[in-house]
Amino acid sequence: MSAAPESFSPSPDTQAYLARQHDLLIGGERVPASSGESIAVYDPATEAQIATVAGAGPEDIDRAVAAARAAFKGDWSTMTAYERARLMLNYADEIERNLPLIAEVEVLENGMPRMISEYTIMKFGAEFLRYYAGWVTKIHGMTIPVSPMDARNGETLTYTKREPVGVVGAIIPWNAPLAMAILKLAPALATGCTIVLKPAELTPLTALLLGELAEKAGIPAGVVNVVPGYGQTAGAALAEHPGVNKISFTGSTAVGKEIIRASAGNLKKVTLELGGKSPFVVFPDANLESVIPGAVRGAFFLQGQNCMASTRLFVHEDVFEPIVDGICQMAGAMQPGPGLDPASMLGPLISGQQRERVLSYIEAGKQTDAELRCGGEALPGKGFFLQPTVFARTKMDMKIAREEIFGPVLCVQAFSDSDSLEDIAAEANDTDYGLSGSVWTRDISVAHKMAALIDSGQVSINCHAAVDPAIPFGGNKQSGWGREFGMEGLEPYLKTKATTVLF
Ligand code: NAI
Ligand code: MG
Repeated sequence: MSAAPESFSPSPDTQAYLARQHDLLIGGERVPASSGESIAVYDPATEAQIATVAGAGPEDIDRAVAAARAAFKGDWSTMTAYERARLMLNYADEIERNLPLIAEVEVLENGMPRMISEYTIMKFGAEFLRYYAGWVTKIHGMTIPVSPMDARNGETLTYTKREPVGVVGAIIPWNAPLAMAILKLAPALATGCTIVLKPAELTPLTALLLGELAEKAGIPAGVVNVVPGYGQTAGAALAEHPGVNKISFTGSTAVGKEIIRASAGNLKKVTLELGGKSPFVVFPDANLESVIPGAVRGAFFLQGQNCMASTRLFVHEDVFEPIVDGICQMAGAMQPGPGLDPASMLGPLISGQQRERVLSYIEAGKQTDAELRCGGEALPGKGFFLQPTVFARTKMDMKIAREEIFGPVLCVQAFSDSDSLEDIAAEANDTDYGLSGSVWTRDISVAHKMAALIDSGQVSINCHAAVDPAIPFGGNKQSGWGREFGMEGLEPYLKTKATTVLF
């Protein structure tokens, strides 16, 4: 690593923000945790502590749920759709206006390169809110021609209304703190729900800042409550709380299953965005000039700490070697460093623990017949940096090819002319996950056939993980329940009420 992190110190605004006392945000008030617990927040690029935040416990979750319930019953429920949409647009503007501050806070607590944070703030912050603000005035029910109780058609009327589910508990991970928060907040706000947001204990600062900006935008107190805390305490309390109507969770599959169990008490509605082990299938006619950067982005975006990561490449034998070489060359050229340094293209992993976890997978990979073609080592010095790592000639029975690693580790497996599309798909689908996937070829019929065969919530052709506020996103199999984004993303936050009148 070249540049010293000191030479890229945050702006005075950011420094002032970090130095503040970071209490919980409940009902428009900043309140300390009732237990007095606090959580230290670290910069994963330097390992230095950057802030301390209050850590919510079960009593604080009680207070936050009560505040969200009061807000749900209050002004928020009587507000017109136009007014709610306008507040969401204000919120988007507020986020855009504060982009430099949010970006620096997110970069410092998460480690991602600044350019990626800024892109995310616009695409999954401001634009995402604006997209859902557009839906607010278009959420409506239907009238249905029926003849219950032997009444003649025309003597009855049934109409449906779409109502907000109520208080939403949102539990999010650390890999993209701003995007994860807005992905939950936007559809909840659009449908008239109120929210208790529990950010990951590793990255609570972006969420707290977003909570304040909601208030600044004029969103009534108690509509957005932010309660940093640990998963086992704050997260578990929220998931089982009888006052919560719906849980929206993004994180590991193991915790997703715990959320389901915790939600059983009052049968909360649950949506889950969980892990992935997405395939990336390359046919020999594909344009290698786009395949190689596509594979590098797909596998190493956010250092592989993203659920859509294309971590399993299936490559035709004829182009196998040039592709593996090209990926290693390009990945090896990614400059590691702190995200505030504009030259940094590769951030650290989120924590020492996460890096150890990833290194243990690399170790397991080294014990197999797979070829370690590049990377595989932690970088010396401060920060949880790890080289982008490529294993070639992997097989689907290897641990590195089966489990979600959530780090910069790519498995590349070969296929040949003797494999049918169904054979390739059988390998690609030989996983518990089904989140994303991509097909690379210039042959239009192969592209669509293969896309149809891949068992996942999204498939991209000649790109990977195309994401946009309007494109439904979610997983099959153990990658989750439900869809976020787009029109479908509203559904989990709504319930239908049917009213019938007999004239
Ligand atoms: P995690 O699933 O434990 O954490 C995600 C969120 O859930 C955090 O806010 C955490 O506080 C909360 N949580 C943890 N235990 C909980 C519980 N019992 N009840 C309610 N909430 C709880 O993920 P973690 O431990 O940070 O990462 C472990 C692995 O999970 C990663 O290596 C990766 O494989 C996977 N993961 C997947 C993500 C995705 O976007 N699909 C995001 C984060 C992690
Ligand atoms: Mg965990």
